[in-house]
Amino acid sequence: MTNPLQLLEKFRASFFASATIYRAPGRVNLIGEHTDYNDGFVLPAAIGFYCWVAAAPRRDRRLVIHSENFNETVEANLDSLSAIAKNHWSNYPFGVACAFQNAGKRLKGANLLISGDVPLGAGLSSSAAIEVAVGFALLHQSGLPIDRLELAQMCQKAENEFVGARCGIMDQFVACQGRASHALLLDCRSLEYKPVKLSPGITLMICNTMVKHELASGEYNRRRADCEEAVRTLRKVLPEIRALRDVTLPQLEQHRALLNPKVYSRCHHVVTEDNRTQSAVRAFESGDLRVLGQLMRESHRSLRDDYEVSCKELDQLVETAAAQPGVIGARMTGGGFGGCTINVVESAAVEAFQQTVAAEYLAQTGLKPEIYVSAASDGVQQVEVNSFGA
Ligand code: GLA
Repeated sequence: MTNPLQLLEKFRASFFASATIYRAPGRVNLIGEHTDYNDGFVLPAAIGFYCWVAAAPRRDRRLVIHSENFNETVEANLDSLSAIAKNHWSNYPFGVACAFQNAGKRLKGANLLISGDVPLGAGLSSSAAIEVAVGFALLHQSGLPIDRLELAQMCQKAENEFVGARCGIMDQFVACQGRASHALLLDCRSLEYKPVKLSPGITLMICNTMVKHELASGEYNRRRADCEEAVRTLRKVLPEIRALRDVTLPQLEQHRALLNPKVYSRCHHVVTEDNRTQSAVRAFESGDLRVLGQLMRESHRSLRDDYEVSCKELDQLVETAAAQPGVIGARMTGGGFGGCTINVVESAAVEAFQQTVAAEYLAQTGLKPEIYVSAASDGVQQVEVNSFGA
């Protein structure tokens, strides 16, 4: 875990100045997967793993950024930002700066030191965490007002246009608006959201399969294209629809013959997942955790069979977890093809869960999973270092 006092010390040693510290969280999604780019509903929570940024102003128009994780420093002029190599970490911070500049915000030059403790490439949105932390830091350093919704949208734009990943808005939104002890029900069309209190006595446990399959980004974009194709086809008979969010299950069944079988299955996932997400909120609100567990199980099955974004390691980890005492629900979380599962576990069962699941998954796959326990956390903020003690 990053210690903000140490981060300040390192900043001073590198840039010979004091700094302000900011942090933005990663996220875990409880339910509502691959629905955000279909204008649908999602239920993510910010987690207690962060991207930390120490920042101080410069007199010129340069951004000088050092990453602790990659032990590398990059530099660019704010007026001539362009992507470095594909997949380079600096595309995230430069992309955000570029999105703001293009939107007419006059940023000031700055020195940044970045240190992230969101596991990288594990489907917990380390990318949204770095985007949002840097975006917040640059606006604050430039003396510009911070609108969290606009920040989320700018960060998504950076990822879509500068990094080249066609993600929806879920990750950046919850990194901006997350609330301690709550998940957020987000309507990805109106961008209205409602904090949903997590029941006392339950713990969110995140299990990392420790695999990330190469297919992830190509298949992600392909799923989006399938959904867009379905909307184009269905509009011929349902001209009022704008996205899969507008299609009901009876309508989908009625017009099934118009869609090729794969595309129909993709739609079936999205339409039923939107329903499950809204039902999950009702289950939290009424305290009916048995129903929540069932919805999570169905969500995983639908992602595995209809949307085909799971993999054998995720299936194994979900199955193993679901068989443990005290487990309310388990499913894959995030884009898929590896990464993590989310498990809602009775707090009293956490320790046994951790030990047994780790041992069984290791025996089954030869992989040692990382298991994280995380409270739902607040979104991006400036950090008062004094509160961490000297
Ligand atoms: C990734 C994307 C999100 C969302 C999920 C799937 O995390 O960044 O926008 O589409 O996959 O739910």
